[in-house]
Amino acid sequence: MDTRNPVTINRLDYQPTDWLIDHVSLQFELDPTATLVTSELTLSRNPAAGQESNGPGPGLTLQGSDCELRSVSLDGVKLAPEDYQLSATELHIAQLPEHCVLVIVTCINPESNTALEGLYRSSGNFCTQCEAEGFRKITYYLDRPDVLSVFDVTITADVATCPVMLANGNRVSHEVLEGGRHRVQWHDPHPKPSYLFALVAGDLAHIEDHFTTASGRKVLLQIYVEAHNIDRCDFAMSSLKASMRWDEEVYGLEYDLDCFMIVAVDDFNMGAMENKGLNVFNSRFVLADAQSATDTDYMGVEAVIAHEYFHNWTGNRITCRDWFQLSLKEGLTVFRDQSFSSDRHSATVKRIEDVRLLRARQFAEDSGPMAHPIRPDSYIEINNFYTLTVYEKGAEVIRMLHTLLGPVKWRQAMDVYVERHDGTATTCDAFVDAMQTVADVDLTQFRRWYSTAGTPEVRVSEEYDSQNARFHLTLSQSCPDTPGQSDKLPLHIPVVMGLLDQQGNSLSLSNGRALAAAVDSSQTDAQRGVLLDLTEASQTFTFEGVDAAPVVSLLRGFSAPVKLVHDVTDETLAFLMANDPDTFNRWEAGQRLATRLILGVLQEGRINADTLASLGQAWGLILADDSLDMAFKAEALSLPTIDTLEGSLEQVDYQALIAAHAMVSTALAEKHAEALCVLVTETRQAGVALLDPAAMSGRKLANTALALLTWLPESLWGPLAAAQYAAADNMTDRIAALAALCHGDSAARQDCLDDFHAKAIGNRLVMDKWFAVQATSRRSSIVEDVAALLQHADFEAGNPNRLRSLVASFALNNPGGFHAANGQGYRFLADQVIALDSRNPQVAARLVSPLGHWKRLAGPARDLMRQELVRIRDSGPLSPDVFELVSKALQ
Ligand code: ARG
Ligand code: ZN
Repeated sequence: MDTRNPVTINRLDYQPTDWLIDHVSLQFELDPTATLVTSELTLSRNPAAGQESNGPGPGLTLQGSDCELRSVSLDGVKLAPEDYQLSATELHIAQLPEHCVLVIVTCINPESNTALEGLYRSSGNFCTQCEAEGFRKITYYLDRPDVLSVFDVTITADVATCPVMLANGNRVSHEVLEGGRHRVQWHDPHPKPSYLFALVAGDLAHIEDHFTTASGRKVLLQIYVEAHNIDRCDFAMSSLKASMRWDEEVYGLEYDLDCFMIVAVDDFNMGAMENKGLNVFNSRFVLADAQSATDTDYMGVEAVIAHEYFHNWTGNRITCRDWFQLSLKEGLTVFRDQSFSSDRHSATVKRIEDVRLLRARQFAEDSGPMAHPIRPDSYIEINNFYTLTVYEKGAEVIRMLHTLLGPVKWRQAMDVYVERHDGTATTCDAFVDAMQTVADVDLTQFRRWYSTAGTPEVRVSEEYDSQNARFHLTLSQSCPDTPGQSDKLPLHIPVVMGLLDQQGNSLSLSNGRALAAAVDSSQTDAQRGVLLDLTEASQTFTFEGVDAAPVVSLLRGFSAPVKLVHDVTDETLAFLMANDPDTFNRWEAGQRLATRLILGVLQEGRINADTLASLGQAWGLILADDSLDMAFKAEALSLPTIDTLEGSLEQVDYQALIAAHAMVSTALAEKHAEALCVLVTETRQAGVALLDPAAMSGRKLANTALALLTWLPESLWGPLAAAQYAAADNMTDRIAALAALCHGDSAARQDCLDDFHAKAIGNRLVMDKWFAVQATSRRSSIVEDVAALLQHADFEAGNPNRLRSLVASFALNNPGGFHAANGQGYRFLADQVIALDSRNPQVAARLVSPLGHWKRLAGPARDLMRQELVRIRDSGPLSPDVFELVSKALQ
């Protein structure tokens, strides 16, 4: 890792490879510290590569690192060291015939692989993680996504320690060998890039089931886990079957192998990985039962199982030409998993949750040193670009295409995309080309979303002309400068909107495009509203036949990932909260009112009594409205978070913002204390199934109410929380009660923490929660508390989940602690980054981002945070991962 000379890779430098790998055969002799890998590559010159006439032909450069080269043979002849060049990252062979077979033997050490990239060990088992560039840590290869080959894999290992040996595709043979070893062979008929290769071996138990595809093929489904987790896989299995069915019904896409396997591992850098036919998961997205998983965890399992399964088409069958195109598979697949979840549960609540995440995290990324378009133009370390921008904003861009095309044409366009590109590695441009074959609208300008970084702002002004019964709506867009980008061109922004009269009736509109009705919707055309295409820097839309000044409902369903600046009265927002036929915008109006109230405290030092009255009253209506879905109510009673509020400020004084947020939370809790106490005790439903939708919504509402009450003196809610903890028969209620108690200092807090810890022994995911719940408490001693937890016997710095449960929970979900005025929180985080970087650069780099925003901080915090970045920079040789983030942040 040479960071004195980090290499920047540029999107426009893409060249096709000179060589193709028509077939690869891999043999693994598994051993914890010395695994031998023999790779036989059948190579041929790429006809699509640049031709040099009559020359000897280009040499071959393969990528490899951290693997010891044992031998290289070309067409059966062993090469001498002078026949090739070897560096720390490459193997170069100058001369090869146009068609040849290269055999490479490497030796690797899975046991010492703490970066969890390539082949490594987790709980004594072998597993791999190759995306994006981990395959090169196994053997020398053309480790890039546009080289697709058919893989045959042979694994040999001890029967005793590795009774199970898995790879992609179908198992074709198994033989028992001498000396307690055995061997299996796997064949994957689908050509794939190296990043989709996977191998798993060890002592694993599994559950299995079957799925019959629409065309009648029977697929074997298996989920592999450590034996002690075997009872926690059923929900994952049913999620898998639901995903397979959904992709057939909604997209006509069927599974294409005889078996589909999922493996859960405890040590994993990210959520999960879509390796062909053999998905490898962080166990937190597989294992779930009532005693260990919250409702949110269950929904996470379902969504991630779906996401990885959906990648089989959007990712594996059609993959990325190069890593700049990452959003081609990730944005699209996130959009697909979001649609799946919203089809299965409340669509509005799902949308609210997704928008919350986008605003809290992606908007921050867009306004920081790492701002990049969903299709980045350059990178030093590709692992740093598995970002909220590529994933979540990428999904928003797909959602806008869906809105612009409408559901019917969207499906037709997806068919064109699959038909055109199946079996290939392609680009975001090709994706939009496929959309364009079907779309009525010209998508030329829309493509700018792929190259523009930053969150656009849309300013709104209204003018009502009573004489002519006309309403003029002017929308003006701009996009802030981001590193390397200024003076941006206008984007094509789909704005879904409607107009209401003063009684709350929807008006029929004379302007804008009609929207297709959702299948299950009872809404009228007028209630759905229309779609405006905002394409100019400033554009006025006129509506005829408007008899009185209307109320505007804009950006319904959050139809574009922009910041809306629309100056309306408190009364208008309260009116929209009560009357907007778009439920998302009802929630949104409440968020705007709350934001106004909190930011008002920042400006004026006190709460604006009128605004508080408006919001308080609106909350009263929501609390009293029994027709509302309880999960929606919970969202409506949740204030915008600090990281969302931060997005509407130029310079942030966190301590002041946190104080303002606390003041407003307290005022609202006070106003509705009685109703909230009732919700805590009376919303839960006894005697229904754990995952009954009403039961889940009830818990969400009750626990939101409890969280609000914690802003009041503990005497009021402490006994409720302690009682809830004691009575809880599920993790959702138990952890919510514990989280409340953790803010205080009662005897119950310590008792419940001790009880929780005792019950967590033997269940790593539950123990993670024990750390996380303490890391997010509002106690004033929080930084010392977290530092003390680092020394706890159950803290494991080498396990990414455990590390994140303490360190990332603190840095991302505890703004009060992290932004402690003396800079202690920043110092703590920097210490963790420095300690971790040499062991696991990917996870270390994830911890850097909260420190990246120093330029936006006001007062002494700004310099305190910057100093910590400098300290990381100067701490010694850094991984390219951490180097890239720190140096960009300091620029
Ligand atoms: N493709 C995987 C997924 O969607 C994530 C892989 C992340 N890889 C990485 N190097 N960060 O969900
Ligand atoms: Zn993905």
